[in-house]
Amino acid sequence: MEPVNDEDVRTLEKVAVEVAREAAELALAVRDRVVGAGSVADLPTKSSATDVVTEGDRECEALVRERLADLRPADAVLGEEGGADDGDPRPGQVRWIVDPIDGTVNYAHGLPWFAVSIGAEVDGRPLAGAVVEPVSGRVWSAAAGHGAWLDGRVLRASELRRPGVAVVATGLNYDPQRRRRQAALVARIASEVGDIRRQGCASLDLCSVAAGWVDGYYEHGLHHWDWAAGALIAEEAGAVVRRPDPADAAGLGPEAIVAAGPGIADGLAELLRAAGASGL
Ligand code: IPD
Repeated sequence: MEPVNDEDVRTLEKVAVEVAREAAELALAVRDRVVGAGSVADLPTKSSATDVVTEGDRECEALVRERLADLRPADAVLGEEGGADDGDPRPGQVRWIVDPIDGTVNYAHGLPWFAVSIGAEVDGRPLAGAVVEPVSGRVWSAAAGHGAWLDGRVLRASELRRPGVAVVATGLNYDPQRRRRQAALVARIASEVGDIRRQGCASLDLCSVAAGWVDGYYEHGLHHWDWAAGALIAEEAGAVVRRPDPADAAGLGPEAIVAAGPGIADGLAELLRAAGASGL
């Protein structure tokens, strides 16, 4: 197995940024065809009636796969639309985790808060990631052990110490049953924190934690591609990140991701536990 050194990690970050930028341009070009091409209700769906998929998602993932095959032919890819290209990765092999358009519902409705998200891992260890917003052109990225950046500016997570005034982002699953339980959890914690946000794009929720734009974020039932890049960006910005853990050692639910500034991370986790997050 080839060791991954610092130089490799920076190279992976550069590749993630380059490819995500190209896909972001394509997402914008295709958007005019998607938005205004008819009702969102006519779009094909995946896991549930609200889980839409657009031409933008498919074309962007195809582009990302093509570019990664050119630039990194030996690596594996796991993508939201195409799944795993080659089954499980080999030990030591780099694997790219791709969400071609995170925030598809926003994208299909003409809202600007969506992103291309590309992470790189080896043996499940996150090494690099990029999240690029097509509309604003903002580029978020991180390299493990080196930090996280927004358009080249170093990111730092919130330093808030009082969960009671924290602005906390969350998301809702496409499965209606789970969504009902998630809404009940939001109802239980809404009066215990400063405010709640549902922005509609998990990768950007995690980037918002990295920038300190929100103090914390949690969600249950995300897919790996929703959080792979954003979780590293938040972590490298100094946030405490609890990724999904089948053993649920933190008692937050095996499919929970929770990211927060270090001053409120324990307090937010405690609030979520007390509100029944482990049952989600
Ligand atoms: C979705 C978004 C949303 C989150 C959902 C995700 P998609 O990803 O990130 O904010 O709440 O759980 O599935 O479907 O737009 O790639």
